[in-house]
Amino acid sequence: MSTPTRDVSPEQAAREEELIARVQSSFDTCEDPRLKEVMQSLVKHLHAFVREVRLTEEEWSKGIDFLTAAGHITDDKRQEFILLSDTLGASMQTIAINNEAYGDATEATVFGPFFVEGSPRVELGGDVSFGAAGEPCWAEGTVRNIDGKPIAGAKIEVWEADEDGFYDVQYDDGRVAARAHQFTDADGGYRFWGITPTPYTIPFDGPVGKMLEATGRSPMRASHLHFMVDAPDCRTLVTHIFVRGDELLDSDSVFGVKESLVKDFERQPAGTPTPDGRVIDGTWAKVRFDIVLAPADVRG
Ligand code: BEZ
Ligand code: FE
Repeated sequence: MSTPTRDVSPEQAAREEELIARVQSSFDTCEDPRLKEVMQSLVKHLHAFVREVRLTEEEWSKGIDFLTAAGHITDDKRQEFILLSDTLGASMQTIAINNEAYGDATEATVFGPFFVEGSPRVELGGDVSFGAAGEPCWAEGTVRNIDGKPIAGAKIEVWEADEDGFYDVQYDDGRVAARAHQFTDADGGYRFWGITPTPYTIPFDGPVGKMLEATGRSPMRASHLHFMVDAPDCRTLVTHIFVRGDELLDSDSVFGVKESLVKDFERQPAGTPTPDGRVIDGTWAKVRFDIVLAPADVRG
């Protein structure tokens, strides 16, 4: 049993511990063993937290108000509880546990709230930006299994914010932009035009934003491009790649950055011929991201 960090009398500690034991044993009759384990552990850690900080009744009430506000702002487009989980690192911890390290398998990171089912299909070498504002960026790479064998027909979903920091679904006009999917060729290769990622803020006009402000934290996310990769007999990979040199890499508001996912986005001077043999207006960038999928039977 955990003990409070501040000194309390033995009688007081006994009272507090007796309550924990009573609450935990209220789950003894739960017929689902996993649910029982989760609930009893939740009670143990929740009470340990309350005791450790010697939570005041006023603070508890503020906490309830916070959760109530999170519920009120949540709807089918806005999910404040995911933002809360993300900003407390709980999403990344759950991802780490459920995507165990396996050889050279590419690391996973946070999913975020802006994935949409049913994105358009774009052929290899096509443009996923659909007019989204931003510097053109050529992305290419391969998908392989853990033995280094190329995976043909792997489905690659990509999505990203525009240079103003917004995903298409954050606009009210129903646009579909900067998201698409494609399938790898016989050599496991993929390639597309997107836009060079730029930093943006997570939605901060709700209780999570207030929490970040009150604690002196920033709502900024490091610049990134989302990927979800699916192939038969492989573990689905949800990840993103980050831009080397981005000053936000060490302070990402949702703790999503991993060194292995930081890539060189090489800016090309205007007039440089593109990989698909064209000359386009202005600068463009290119990035390579080679992906390794773990087998499906590995946890996650
Ligand atoms: C995102 O990367 O899209 C995202 C992740 C967590 C919270 C908000 C946005
Ligand atoms: Fe994102």
